[in-house]
Amino acid sequence: MQLGAQIFGGRVRRGRTKEYGLAHIQIVRNKLFLGLPRRFNVWMSHGDTVVRVPAGAKILGSTETTKVAVFKYKEFYGLQFHPEVRHTQYGIKIIDNFLTHICQAKKTWSMRKFVNQEVARIRNEVKDARAICAISGGIDSTVAATIASKALGSHLIGIFVDNGLLRMGEREEVKRSLANKVKLRVVDARDRFLSRLRGVRNPEQKRKIIGREFIRIFEAEAKKFSNVKFLVQGTLYPDVIESGRGIGPADVIKSHHNVGGLPRRMRLKVIEPLRLLFKDEVRNIARMLKLPRSFIQRKPFPGPGLAVRIVGAVTPERLNILRQADKILQEEAEKLKIYPDIWQIFAVLLPLGSVGVMGDRRTYDSVCAIRAVYSDDGMTADWVRLPDNFLGRVSRRITNEVRGINRVVFDITSKPPATIEWE
Ligand code: XMP
Repeated sequence: MQLGAQIFGGRVRRGRTKEYGLAHIQIVRNKLFLGLPRRFNVWMSHGDTVVRVPAGAKILGSTETTKVAVFKYKEFYGLQFHPEVRHTQYGIKIIDNFLTHICQAKKTWSMRKFVNQEVARIRNEVKDARAICAISGGIDSTVAATIASKALGSHLIGIFVDNGLLRMGEREEVKRSLANKVKLRVVDARDRFLSRLRGVRNPEQKRKIIGREFIRIFEAEAKKFSNVKFLVQGTLYPDVIESGRGIGPADVIKSHHNVGGLPRRMRLKVIEPLRLLFKDEVRNIARMLKLPRSFIQRKPFPGPGLAVRIVGAVTPERLNILRQADKILQEEAEKLKIYPDIWQIFAVLLPLGSVGVMGDRRTYDSVCAIRAVYSDDGMTADWVRLPDNFLGRVSRRITNEVRGINRVVFDITSKPPATIEWE
């Protein structure tokens, strides 16, 4: 909207205050707002403001603080708020109205068509070569592998790397659940990752190291088979955007291991069948492909694993502490009625000691944070109002059962301004 205002002769100024979060909009009648009430809630995230619209433009909506929240100039429509986030009421309806009533788009796109197209594209690209696929056990890599195996059959080799940063019991679980679905190779690289991460505190550096080791391992594994030329990855669109590869000029928020960490001269060519999709769409494909429910319901887990949930240096001892705390949290969380609606719930180990008392002894142990969020696609998130008795039980169990933690805190920040992960 700001660029449009500037180009068409309006004026954009740095706002006196930045506006982040909920705002109430009042709109005027327009095709864009067909079927909507005159007032509703929208989500704002901007520092600059359109202070004058181009000559001949019409203001279609205003909030308390932003006079030009929506404007139309000829065929150009600009929205200052974010229609794509869950906190904007009727956001999807606005996008639908734009596509259907303004662009006159025909709704011919379907998931099935998309999958068929990707299968054909992969087959076409790989031809008679082989591809390896990074399997994490999560929904993204599983769906990516399933699509790729539709295209390539036995020419696809799934590789699961135990990087030592997995949750308790995860390696066995992945092996069990994928046993008959994808040709799977399990690589034990725990020592290698942990030694490369020794003493590293900087989150970006951790991600880069982990990304680099992943790729090296895949390259080495690929060499064990003849004619392997491709690497299939379950990268999603939010990862693409946040790594600055999107269509917009978004800042690089952080380098995701499966995008930013790729060395420039990688010898394998990357195939990313899900790179244009959001999580909910991947879940829809998973249902369509009849993948087990356990896959579809799995909560996202970041590629760099527990390394980005141990703030500060990663050591075997701290991994051990976090695994135990997280296991307790998961056990309790699964009993919650709201569990299926929660996007992610996990424990974070802070690089902070605090004084405690146990029996007649003083302790000086670590602080563990609990993070739980609602989200549709990981791009924005709201913290979950977990019940008091749940929080109390988890805190009691963690401090009683896990040696090394004597304090539990609860993170009550949304995204933005925080990210979901702590690093
Ligand atoms: P943030 O912390 O950026 O996370 O708000 C958004 C979502 O992405 C997940 N995440 C990752 N997933 N590789 C991944 O595959 C990564 O490097 C990575 N970092 C964050 C995070 O768990 C959340 O669901």
